Amino acid sequence: MSSLPPIREDRIICELPLCFTKDAALHTKDTFNVTVQQTCLGQMSDPMGFNVAKVIVVGDVGVGKTCLINRFCKDSFDKGYKATIGVDFEMERFEVLGVPFNLQLWDTAGQERFKCIASTYYRGAQAIIVVFDLSNYYSLDHARQWLEDAMIDNDPSSVLLFLVGTKKDQSHPDLLAQMEGEAIKLSEEIKAEYWAVSALSGESVRRLFLRVASLTFEAAVLAELEKKNTRQAGDIVKITDNQNDFKKRKSANCCN
Ligand SMILES: *[C@@H]1O[C@H](CO)[C@@H](O)[C@H](O)[C@H]1NC(C)=O
Repeated sequence: MSSLPPIREDRIICELPLCFTKDAALHTKDTFNVTVQQTCLGQMSDPMGFNVAKVIVVGDVGVGKTCLINRFCKDSFDKGYKATIGVDFEMERFEVLGVPFNLQLWDTAGQERFKCIASTYYRGAQAIIVVFDLSNYYSLDHARQWLEDAMIDNDPSSVLLFLVGTKKDQSHPDLLAQMEGEAIKLSEEIKAEYWAVSALSGESVRRLFLRVASLTFEAAVLAELEKKNTRQAGDIVKITDNQNDFKKRKSANCCN
């Protein structure tokens, strides 16, 4: 039926990968939600209505968004800097709890002049990864603004947020400790999960993306179940319509 090669062994997820630090985690449980596990067991008779999630990666110029994605997708690190023009995406295949699942990783340019182009690609994201450089204080300072821009066309109740510090290998231990403290504070405030990684050494990169895939998958299964229940109870549809109107109004003033 399909000519795709089998899913790589290290992309097959059976156990929930743990968070980076319990101080700033989306949740600290060490197993997948029981309802999700049971749903996945039964998916042969009732397949999931989704198989892909959109993940957008935003942050300042040069914080290492492309390097982070390349380290995970291609297991490579290119020392030469090449700016991303506009938007680019990689498709990464996983299997979670026996269910095929893909992450569409959208790499966006950090330059101001691409902000407007990029914002139209932000729509419909299931997860947002806000990247900053652990050796550059300003990039963390700008993280909040990146998040706000990325959220304009998204529904806050259905997007998972990750705040990821890169270049851990380049940050002086004193600065690193200070930056991590600030980043954890910001993560708590914006309800994001905090990670510190190094695309150069590869430290924590794979764990991060397995965690992103797992939590996104878990949320997608729960949303799917909720949708099924909503279809059975017609009166809830009205509330959903109102939410859409609200989103339209909010996005009307973008990119003028
Ligand atoms: C699984 O998720 C559902 C829906 O969000 C929730 O009601 C339930 O309590 C969760 N179960 C566990 C064990 O966390």
